[in-house]
Amino acid sequence: MIVNSAEEKEKIILPPSAIFISFKSNSHMSENWVRAAAIGDIEDEDLPQVKIDDLLIAIYNLGGTYYATSDICTHEHACLSDGSVIGGVIECPLHQGCFDIATGKAKGAPVTVDLQNYQTRIDGDNIFILR
Ligand code: FES
Repeated sequence: MIVNSAEEKEKIILPPSAIFISFKSNSHMSENWVRAAAIGDIEDEDLPQVKIDDLLIAIYNLGGTYYATSDICTHEHACLSDGSVIGGVIECPLHQGCFDIATGKAKGAPVTVDLQNYQTRIDGDNIFILR
């Protein structure tokens, strides 16, 4: 089918399978899952620092769901793994800046720049992060 006008293009609706195939193809090409820790190493409310290559990453266990962010605060140089987890938020130990653990979003002054967060997945007894 040849589509010539913008009006005709707007009428085309892709079947869901076409969208799904495109998504899988893109994600497969860029995936780089790296083992970060064993599940048994991280108790509920533990907040370990994991070093992967040159990255310092904080791993969070929120009731059995695992999250990962950069361990370095975006305000100044402080390790968030030394901070406190309060209801899905990590509070920096240096100036008490707060970030949403699931999204890395800065929650207000003194932090204004979001944290890098990393997608996690569980495979067997291990936690992997997507770099
Ligand atoms: S270093 Fe984290 S809030 Fe200042």
